[in-house]
Amino acid sequence: MDTWTVIILLHYFLLASSVQSAPVGSLSSLPPAFRETAVEAKTLGEKILKDIPAAHSATVNVFSLDSSSQTSNLQMMAASMGIPSSPVLKALSEHFTLDMCVSRMLAGVQMYQNLLEVLSSRVKGLEDLKVDLRDLLNHVNKLKEVAQLGSDVSDQNPVSDLASHLQDNYSIQVAVHVTLTQLRSFCHDLNRTFRVLTTYRP
Ligand SMILES: *[C@@H]1O[C@H](CO)[C@@H](O)[C@H](O)[C@H]1NC(C)=O
Ligand SMILES: *[C@@H]1O[C@H](CO)[C@@H](O)[C@H](O)[C@H]1NC(C)=O
Repeated sequence: MDTWTVIILLHYFLLASSVQSAPVGSLSSLPPAFRETAVEAKTLGEKILKDIPAAHSATVNVFSLDSSSQTSNLQMMAASMGIPSSPVLKALSEHFTLDMCVSRMLAGVQMYQNLLEVLSSRVKGLEDLKVDLRDLLNHVNKLKEVAQLGSDVSDQNPVSDLASHLQDNYSIQVAVHVTLTQLRSFCHDLNRTFRVLTTYRP
């Protein structure tokens, strides 16, 4: 290889690596309001995580929040009752852009809001979480607005037919248990994502 070949190869190599880091790097071009809103949203997500155990013990007595027994059975049952799994939040990259990330956050928060709406017509004790989720939804919508992200409609939630499956106490308990367990793990994913969105260097 002559010197020029080396230089050209080096050039492409550096170009490729800078392109790869662009999605996270480009966070620094967002207005300060983005970071401020993300900080508030992160706090709300952590509040939801704190509120879940109380909501669970107020509504579910046949399972404990941390029992891992029957998890896959319960998840299968829940899926057949119309409880979808959470949207997947990945690390930001050229394949998972900020736009996709925020759309999935919105889709997830809306999904849990809808599920809790249905469930709270059958059990008492989910009111605080509903308020938290409404606040979080407003903040994620504001993130989208501040960053001027497009409206990605591919992640719209299908309408759940959960209400028609809540026939007996046991089904209700399964539905609440699985919803709160999934919500908790979705909020852990959110917390990780908000961490990235709040700690980039301007
Ligand atoms: C369901 O729960 C309600 C209220 O907790 C109770 O009154 C009722 O007996 C329960 N029904 C069954 C079938 O366990
Ligand atoms: C959320 O993330 C922060 C770091 O940004 C961490 O300190 C905190 O423990 C996380 N909260 C939960 C409930 O995992």
